[in-house]
Amino acid sequence: MITLGINAVYHDSAACLVMDGRVVAAAEEERFTRIKHGKRPLPFTTWELPYHAIDYCLGAAGLELADIDHVAYSFDPHKLLETTTIQLPLEPSAFPTKQSWSSPWEPLSLAYTLNAERQLVDGAPHHIRKRFAGAKKAKHWQWHFVEHHLAHEASAFLAAPFDESAVMTLDGRGELATTSYGRFDGARYQRLAEVQMPHSLGLLYERITDYLGFLHSSDEYKVMALASYGEPVHAAAFREMVSIQEHGNYTVAQPDLAALFGPARARGAPLEKRHFDIARSLQLVLEESAIELAAWLKRASGSDNLCMAGGVALNCVMNARIRDAGLYRNVWVQPAAGDAGTALGAALWTDWRKRGGGRHWHMEHAFLGPEYPEAEIEEFLKRGKLNYTRPADFAGEVARLLAEDKIVGWFQGRMEFGPRALGGRSILASPLGADMQQRLNEIKDREDFRPVAPVVLEEEAASWFKDARVSPFMLFVHEVAPQNAARIPAVRHVDGTARIQTIRRAQNPLYYDLIRAFGQRTGVPVLVNTSFNTRSEPIVCTPRDAVECFWTSPIDVLAIGPFVLRK
Ligand SMILES: [Fe+2]
Repeated sequence: MITLGINAVYHDSAACLVMDGRVVAAAEEERFTRIKHGKRPLPFTTWELPYHAIDYCLGAAGLELADIDHVAYSFDPHKLLETTTIQLPLEPSAFPTKQSWSSPWEPLSLAYTLNAERQLVDGAPHHIRKRFAGAKKAKHWQWHFVEHHLAHEASAFLAAPFDESAVMTLDGRGELATTSYGRFDGARYQRLAEVQMPHSLGLLYERITDYLGFLHSSDEYKVMALASYGEPVHAAAFREMVSIQEHGNYTVAQPDLAALFGPARARGAPLEKRHFDIARSLQLVLEESAIELAAWLKRASGSDNLCMAGGVALNCVMNARIRDAGLYRNVWVQPAAGDAGTALGAALWTDWRKRGGGRHWHMEHAFLGPEYPEAEIEEFLKRGKLNYTRPADFAGEVARLLAEDKIVGWFQGRMEFGPRALGGRSILASPLGADMQQRLNEIKDREDFRPVAPVVLEEEAASWFKDARVSPFMLFVHEVAPQNAARIPAVRHVDGTARIQTIRRAQNPLYYDLIRAFGQRTGVPVLVNTSFNTRSEPIVCTPRDAVECFWTSPIDVLAIGPFVLRK
């Protein structure tokens, strides 16, 4: 059984292919079109499907669109049709004039969603039309609209290594739900409760991101980084906004932010102490609220395992606070916790239901994207008249360059699914010098306050990061172990933590060997790992993207396939 999952409704458009319970391929559209997040979350862009990501997924399995048995679209417009008047063809008079939460353009978005199947069959751009062409005559699939939060939830409980679990999703919004809770017992999934629009912790975070002069639905992670520099002097104001109630419910008030905190920061204006303090206060109240909600879910579900998804679950400081609260023995977060992951969740859910349950896959790694054969990489390098070498001891040679403080573009194997580079498309560097964070921020043209994160051999993790266990997806922060803090200054954030990735050899042998070789050379089995891109660019996908990024930035070395390029 072949199931195609699609996320397209808001942003982070993505596709995923599931075959008989196994995820075969998954990728975000932005990596192919080079438009960050694929598109902005606007009603006018709802029609745009992730054609390039779909084309990749089909190609990875040697399929055409007509071969698909089920298509799972991670949004259910019928949930909204119950509350919104819609008339087709659309007339301005059909737009609701007075709704407390929705845009007057909501019907347009709904119309596009309802037409998504036709758009899939007819809309693929000409340059990739080949795999789509036969679908009009030969398609036999069943089309499924999967509720947005159900898709998030399934991306967690059907991917996590647990047979049963509690599930919590926090995002901006789905159709109506903004937060949802459930319990998965291996054979059945049950929604326990949900919070609906307009109350949303995710939208509150987006609103403050916008107020602080950043791009909402995109730069929330920058606000999280800012928070480490501030004091929670406005915590009371945020506690007043967020009111936690019974059964996992909460409300969020919408006060005038300028009246509360002063004028909003214009984009690009200098950051002042009050901005750091607002970020810190917001972050603290998000953490407190999430812990309270997770505690309610613990009581309601009785499970020792918690799975999380939704864009808010990319907040690795919040995740660590939930972990450290000790409510659950295990906490697992879907690495593509944002909307891209709903393509995977919708496909897994549909496949699981149609097969009548049963699991024989869980997400051990995120290397689900495209890879390029050695011959293709070499041909590309030759055509570009680029000088390269092919070291016999590849990991040893790159480790030597890293130990010389060279910054390395690392392009190996399959691209990661989700926003984190995890050793497929990474920029790697030595953590030994305190100036490395600044050098990397310069290379990536990023703000000075942004931390860089470490990757560490799994078996060594506990000696370098306090209480560190398995953490393959960079979704939790850990305190840097005090006895070793001075040896890895580049990855220690201002609050003493680091957002770690642990790696075991089976997940990515070459990446593991590189870090081990660096450890043998320097005594430190840790590298800085940041995503292979520059500011506002999606992570590189193809050899061409990698070479262009390498030659247009101050990266010193490109390690691509078995080849090494130096400047
Ligand atoms: Fe979402």
